[in-house]
Amino acid sequence: MFLWGTATASYQIEGAVSEDGRGVSVWDTFSHEPGRVRDGHTGDVACDHYHRWPEDVALMADAGLNAYRFSVAWPRIQPTGRGAVNQAGLDFYDRLVDGLCEKGITPALTLFHWDLPQALEDEGGWLNRDTSRYFADYAAIVAERLADRVPMWITLNEPFVHMTFGYALGVHAPGRTLFLDALPAAHHQLLGHGLAVSALRANGAEQVLITNNCTPVWPASDAPEDLAAAEAYDTLHNRLFNDPLFAASYPDFSAFGVEELDFIHDGDLETIGQPLDGLGINYYNPTRVAAPSTDALPFDDAGITGYPTTAFGWPVVPDGLRELLGSLKARYGAALPPVYITENGCSYEGIDDQERIDYLDGHIAAVRQAQAEGVDVRGYFVWSLLDNFEWAEGYHQRFGLVHVDFATQKRTPKASYHWLKRLIAG
Ligand code: FCB
Repeated sequence: MFLWGTATASYQIEGAVSEDGRGVSVWDTFSHEPGRVRDGHTGDVACDHYHRWPEDVALMADAGLNAYRFSVAWPRIQPTGRGAVNQAGLDFYDRLVDGLCEKGITPALTLFHWDLPQALEDEGGWLNRDTSRYFADYAAIVAERLADRVPMWITLNEPFVHMTFGYALGVHAPGRTLFLDALPAAHHQLLGHGLAVSALRANGAEQVLITNNCTPVWPASDAPEDLAAAEAYDTLHNRLFNDPLFAASYPDFSAFGVEELDFIHDGDLETIGQPLDGLGINYYNPTRVAAPSTDALPFDDAGITGYPTTAFGWPVVPDGLRELLGSLKARYGAALPPVYITENGCSYEGIDDQERIDYLDGHIAAVRQAQAEGVDVRGYFVWSLLDNFEWAEGYHQRFGLVHVDFATQKRTPKASYHWLKRLIAG
């Protein structure tokens, strides 16, 4: 059965940040620091999904969606990231999973969508190798409770974006500006993924996946310098996170002046490269790069022109999704597991959102074309069900199929919601 779903993330929708024993996450800390998030917005209340989840599940069911990708907030389960389990936190997800199952909606559970317990960040966060082990312990706890009803487990969401925005550039939590010294955060996330794969399977998880953010990389021209820049960007954004999973190696980083990844221990690549039941792909847009104008990085972002843009300013390039899926298949061949589009969507204002309909229509067509070209795609999850806390942009970017009035928490399905409902019904 092809999965039609929506995707959300705990910190972006739940609110209830100090209820039922939840610990503090890096996003609580970060969003409360002045100047970090546009207009000082925080996820303290967000969509109040923690209390309103039955209404949100009903919205999914009414649309005919048969799957739902959500994330668990680690600090609800282990308030300091390790040790004692907070049963009240597990109880919340237990109720949610039961609610989904009652409506025939398949739960797809992401264990980490960026809200690391602050106590672990205080010990180095993902720069600290121990975090990988704590992550696997946490994975085991959640699976032990929920694997009897949750068939689909996603370890990490977008380790590239978390490393880059969180640890290299500091525009997301935990707000560190380490540039290339952020690379250990890639490896420790991937190691945590690998350790969690075993922990999840040992506790009854049927299907284990990871979700990577991937982008087709377009060189600004055919000049050798631009082609080299494109290769370097592809290494950083795509291959750093896919090669260890599907090619048992890390790509060559010498273009970045990095000759040796000395944080890799013997056996790590075997742990990371265990076979998976699927690859989650989050696709938003291609990236066009040119030869570097400074010596900081081996590429410049050349920007994409000539395409429509969303309210966020992101170019709308549906065929980029077909291109991306084809290139993954070409690169990894039989090692590429079945693919699920675990996020795709756009920010636009308004309830009469014809632009979102056009966007989704184009991208779903691209998925169908990729299937026709031989890529095994088994699901498509729209980002997102609800307008929500869009990280550094606060509540300014509205990605929902359902409009949320953040003053009243009133949910109003947009035109795109009704359109998707008709599409799924066939
Ligand atoms: C992705 C994130 C998701 C959401 C969308 C717009 O990178 O995984 O949480 O913010 O972008």
